[in-house]
Amino acid sequence: MLDAPFRHARRAASVAEMTTWDAAAYDASFSFVPALGVAVLDLLDPRPGERVLDLGCGSGDLTAAIAERGADVIGIDSSPEMIERARERFPHLDLRLADGHELDLDESVDAVFSNAALHWMTDPDAVLASVRTVLGDGGRFVAEMGAAGNVAQLTGALRAAAFRLDLDVDLELPWYFPTPAEQARRLEQVGFVVRLMEYVDRPTPLVDCPDGAAGWWRMFGPSVLEQVPAHRVDELLATVNEIARPQLVDASGVWVADYVRLRFVAEVR
Ligand code: BEZ
Repeated sequence: MLDAPFRHARRAASVAEMTTWDAAAYDASFSFVPALGVAVLDLLDPRPGERVLDLGCGSGDLTAAIAERGADVIGIDSSPEMIERARERFPHLDLRLADGHELDLDESVDAVFSNAALHWMTDPDAVLASVRTVLGDGGRFVAEMGAAGNVAQLTGALRAAAFRLDLDVDLELPWYFPTPAEQARRLEQVGFVVRLMEYVDRPTPLVDCPDGAAGWWRMFGPSVLEQVPAHRVDELLATVNEIARPQLVDASGVWVADYVRLRFVAEVR
């Protein structure tokens, strides 16, 4: 029996693909995403001259940070809005519109890096097999992603709000949040040796995000909110904030998202 988040992911491939990003708003209000990715960048420890692929590079901050450490980096993202924004910000970088399920490079890379992106890619076996094909012998895959239990409060508040407002919708979520065992098994199945697999709660302050949980849903869940009649969305999100506030607002009044992460290093042997 698959766990609930994974069942959603399997059903929801088309919902994930429907997500359209507001890349400028993302940079303005969600800069904590690349900022918190520095921990996994340190784990990657890119070396001068290494070839690195940044999978799901978003608007490019960590791709630029990898380049600053002297590596030859290619950033890819499947969102045209994000790639356009990344190219505007970092015109000197090699940034490509591409799908992680079907990577295709002329030359292999020494490492694949990914921060906060893999959970958006809803056919995990295809993605891992695809990553494997671009890595040479000894290549490493270093990544952080949402894990089982990620955003459970945010998601629960949305479902509870829909129920309270009598909205007759079966909200499909576009994400894949595996357990450590599940992710390790998938990695091993395509030929990786798992060197590190961390499963950690990482409560994440939404410091610049306007309107708390509602703002989070507007940024990250447009494809979910599209399943709700448009004229009910404001009311739904106001109710989400009311329901989520006791769990997700800390003593100083800051909204804190209930993120749970998998951080892993896997090698080709
Ligand atoms: C995350 O980084 O865990 C995440 C971000 C947006 C939507 C879902 C999960």
